[in-house]
Amino acid sequence: MKNRGGSKEAKRRAGRSAADQVEDGDVVGLGTGSTAAYAVERLAERVDAGLDVEGVPTSSATRRLAIQEGVPLTSLDVETPDLAIDGADAYTSDLDLVKGGGAAHTREKVVAEASESFLVVVDPSKEVEAFEAVPLEVLEHALPLVMETVEELGGETLPRKCDGKDGWVVSDDGNPVLDADFDRIDDPRELSRALDGVTGVVEHGLFVDMADEVHVGEDEGVTVLNR
Ligand code: 5RP
Repeated sequence: MKNRGGSKEAKRRAGRSAADQVEDGDVVGLGTGSTAAYAVERLAERVDAGLDVEGVPTSSATRRLAIQEGVPLTSLDVETPDLAIDGADAYTSDLDLVKGGGAAHTREKVVAEASESFLVVVDPSKEVEAFEAVPLEVLEHALPLVMETVEELGGETLPRKCDGKDGWVVSDDGNPVLDADFDRIDDPRELSRALDGVTGVVEHGLFVDMADEVHVGEDEGVTVLNR
């Protein structure tokens, strides 16, 4: 679920810090969410100043933002991103992540995996000692099977709902999203492997051993954590 903490200034500094790592000629995965949006806006400023860059958006919302701001776009069909920049709902000191608060984690994981490096942009409210819940994008046809299997793994499955839409939240690809609450996840690698093996789960929101840098914005500056 979305973590609504963190100041706009902290998010802005994180997003800009990662966007400033982009080099002329790079192809950049463009993440989804309020912090990644600051990176898109900073890239647009740099494009205005002459930077040659192309973005691969991870959601229709980010695609619209990039078009509005003037960041040229491409796709994984024709380019391999040099780096991806994306937010997270939670991160640990091992630089593991939970993503999917915006129901975009499947496309986000595809773009991050396809990229040479993965830069994460967060504010300090996202740091946790241990993860609790994991978003799941699921084939509708498989919902009963997935819910039963995830409950056997120790997760309580809750359909994702939101104001302004009756029924379940669906991803940009039309698949329902649910949140699996495990209370406390002591071994994210083991759970990631287990969820990888659940038939009917399109993708889960555990991003283990993927982040190369985490840019933690604060009101006064940015700390960059490296793997
Ligand atoms: C969307 C995501 C976002 O990156 C995550 O929810 C963080 O968003 P925000 O920067 O708005 O807190 O994973 O699926």
